[in-house]
Amino acid sequence: MIRELIDRLEGQHILTKEEFCTLIDGAGGEDREYLFARARRQAQAVYGRAVFVRGLIEFTSFCKNNCYYCGIRRGNSQASRYRLTEEEIMECCREGYALGFRTFVLQGGEDPWYDDEKLAGLVRQIKGAYPDCAVTLSVGEKSYETYKKWFDAGADRYLLRHETANPEHYARLHPEEMSSAHRKQCLRDLKAIGYQTGCGIMVGSPWQTTEHLAEDMIFMHDLNPEMVGIGPFIPHSQTPFKDKPPGTLERTLILLAVVRLMLPRVLLPATTALGTIHPTGREQGILAGANVVMPNLSPLSVRKKYMLYDNKISTGAEAASNIAELRRRMEAVGYEVVAARGDYAV
Ligand code: 5AD
Repeated sequence: MIRELIDRLEGQHILTKEEFCTLIDGAGGEDREYLFARARRQAQAVYGRAVFVRGLIEFTSFCKNNCYYCGIRRGNSQASRYRLTEEEIMECCREGYALGFRTFVLQGGEDPWYDDEKLAGLVRQIKGAYPDCAVTLSVGEKSYETYKKWFDAGADRYLLRHETANPEHYARLHPEEMSSAHRKQCLRDLKAIGYQTGCGIMVGSPWQTTEHLAEDMIFMHDLNPEMVGIGPFIPHSQTPFKDKPPGTLERTLILLAVVRLMLPRVLLPATTALGTIHPTGREQGILAGANVVMPNLSPLSVRKKYMLYDNKISTGAEAASNIAELRRRMEAVGYEVVAARGDYAV
């Protein structure tokens, strides 16, 4: 039964909502291994055994939003805030380029200080200095015009997780001023402008049901994003969700594999959150169909301040400076870290 669903997902790249539920809840034991093997085979058919790396620059921890799950939410008065200067960001890129990174991801809270013009200037500067590199932005919900301005400045990709496709569930994770509808509109705008666009979810976020995950699958199938970010929810002690249980490794891996089979060419990171809940979480993610890792290029002095969740790892193989360690760990499971832009396969 489960195997038949896996085969059909592999062949047709879609299931009904009910079938997704059956698969997500039912893939245990040998069926689960079968799912992962099919997902790996799919990833290898498109990208071989290459693992793409992205240098993640967490350039501001100021955020005007107040998402209930997030450690850098506006309401966390204990968070120590920082903002990298343009010079510091350029220095991160210089270091990253020397280490072999050919994609820089500028991620931050929604920080009004970094306005449209400042960010456009920064994108231009990075693309001018490193024309062979891709720039990915991940700075939240903006207008079509703003996204267009940054695209015209040279930004290649944009990450904006939709968090959950179900509007009622979304409303339980975010304050009233945020909406699932607006977030989805942003994603459609990004696609229309021409960005390689990434959506995504947390697995095991409070009140998430299997039906919600099935709805996420159907939403992602319709959006057809070039990238999907999936990691377990991990509580942060200074948020309203501090006592909520974390998402599990097992369920996150199943979701990664299902997404790989549904969107064969998608760029799918084994996330830092996955590496945080289990020491070999990222390797296991690769073996479930992921093909990207995003080591941290932020200066050591600020790394501990970008705490989206408790115990976020930041100094081991997830540090860009330790790319040699990451390379060894990927090689140990049969994969090769490559120095390439790693664009979506067309
Ligand atoms: N646990 C796991 N992931 C989180 N994020 C934010 N807070 C948490 C948390 N507590 C994720 C969100 C966001 C991305 C930048 O980090 O999905 O989109």
